[in-house]
Amino acid sequence: MTTSTRRWLLACGVSLLLPVSVTQAADSAPASSGEPQGSTLCTKIPIPCDAVIAHRGASYQAPESTRPAYLLARDLGVDYLELDLQRTKDGVLVAVHDNTLGRNTNVAEVFPDRADAPVSSFTLDELKQLDAGSWFNASYPDRARDSYSGLEILTLDEVIDIAEGGDNHPGLYIETKVPEQFPGIEEDLRKKLQSRGWLGDEAKSRPAAKKGAVNVGDTPGRVVMQTFSKASLKALETSMPDVPRVLLLWLGKGGIEAAPGKPQGDDESTADYYARQQVASPEAYRSWLDFAKDHGAIGLGPSAVQSEHDGNFSSQFSYMDLAEPWMIGMAHDDGMLVHLYTVDEPADFERYQQRGVDGFFTNRAERLLEFYGHPTQDQDAILKRHGY
Ligand code: G3P
Ligand code: CA
Repeated sequence: MTTSTRRWLLACGVSLLLPVSVTQAADSAPASSGEPQGSTLCTKIPIPCDAVIAHRGASYQAPESTRPAYLLARDLGVDYLELDLQRTKDGVLVAVHDNTLGRNTNVAEVFPDRADAPVSSFTLDELKQLDAGSWFNASYPDRARDSYSGLEILTLDEVIDIAEGGDNHPGLYIETKVPEQFPGIEEDLRKKLQSRGWLGDEAKSRPAAKKGAVNVGDTPGRVVMQTFSKASLKALETSMPDVPRVLLLWLGKGGIEAAPGKPQGDDESTADYYARQQVASPEAYRSWLDFAKDHGAIGLGPSAVQSEHDGNFSSQFSYMDLAEPWMIGMAHDDGMLVHLYTVDEPADFERYQQRGVDGFFTNRAERLLEFYGHPTQDQDAILKRHGY
């Protein structure tokens, strides 16, 4: 089945499934065939087939989670803008990945005594004093732009403004990050989404995307919640029972039980060490799948092993393969979508697509869109159009 056919089926599926809750749709997935069912599941759950999820925006070409990264992703035509949600000391929801600010801001210059302090200990006004772009220019001179210097950390409101501000209407794929640090963040998020018209029928009051443009933001799958935390998944179920939820999977401490193995060798890269990690048993994987399903999740977000490392995120970019064919089959047999994080290489898109996954988190939105058959676009022109 071609990508365009799948997307056409989705369009039909969405219109037919509008009155059906997300959970009901997942429960009515086809019976087990023993084969991955990604191509058909996505016609029954209101989430795009072959989902293109821009991980922290178009974060290869622009500093992660900043305005140009999200503008570029939106205008390239991704299905979702991905963001990691945290809360400032004064209660504002912001898009920041790390627990601290040292890796990708100049916090050590602006607040030298607080360089290792958690994001949650800063007010919004303080965060807005930081430069979230210059680190990128220093780390990736081949992709540097003078205009990236001084970029601000974004609030959730500002990411929503970007999602609503173009011809394409992408959805939002929101992760509750370190949620144990932010009691009640799920309810804060519900209130924010509600006030912005992103929940329930309120979104219908916004003008629909033009024909041919991305319209995920106009559909019942406009927001997907994701979390590594079982407690947060439960809180999201309570706060927003009708919003699609995905349980992210990790192997090891706090995640799926790992099989015993040799510790990382002195000469062994982190990537190689992670790549050889195995789950303790199929039952260990199943217990997480069962938890997700029991709490109304529509899918799993497992990690993927990358076949190449292009230096984008160094050691952060080393993951275990939690999307082996039997794992994807187990998820699909239970009617659960599989969205893999974080995949940037065409060879890996191909390998995992053949296993039947339903979409990818990627820093290389332009590559994934091309892989799925969309025309190539001029990223430089898009960035320049926005003043970058
Ligand atoms: O949210 C999917 C993926 O983003 C999880 O990893 O650490 O990049 O948030 P991380
Ligand atoms: Ca994330």
